[in-house]
Amino acid sequence: MIGKLNHVAIAVPDLEAAAKTYRETLGAKVSAPQPIPAHGVTVVFVELANTKVELLHPLGDKSTIQGFLDKNPSGGIHHICYEVKDILAAREQLKAAGARVLGDGEPKIGAHGNPVLFLHPKDFFGALVELEQA
Ligand code: CO
Repeated sequence: MIGKLNHVAIAVPDLEAAAKTYRETLGAKVSAPQPIPAHGVTVVFVELANTKVELLHPLGDKSTIQGFLDKNPSGGIHHICYEVKDILAAREQLKAAGARVLGDGEPKIGAHGNPVLFLHPKDFFGALVELEQA
């Protein structure tokens, strides 16, 4: 069902410092910060040859990233995103297998303009999984 690894998202306490580390220390191609109010995050995209890394920082009071940073003050891997061809078909298949879809279960438009869903980390070995139709 899952296809390519679309991205790995890392929550960071200081977006500018993290972007600088990826740009200067790791020598990666790094975007300007992009606010995504609907998801309560500001994102810096790190483009790699075969996938992306997204550096996430809380935006607004209700950001779920803030709670994550409260528990992981120096930052940490927040989620991994796999591509699927048909997100509704994937959702039905996963629900039938007993996996929990987070939120109201309806796909939302993600950081790349495509529909996304999140799956409960307890069903996937402690990793929050995002599915993106791509
Ligand atoms: Co993501």
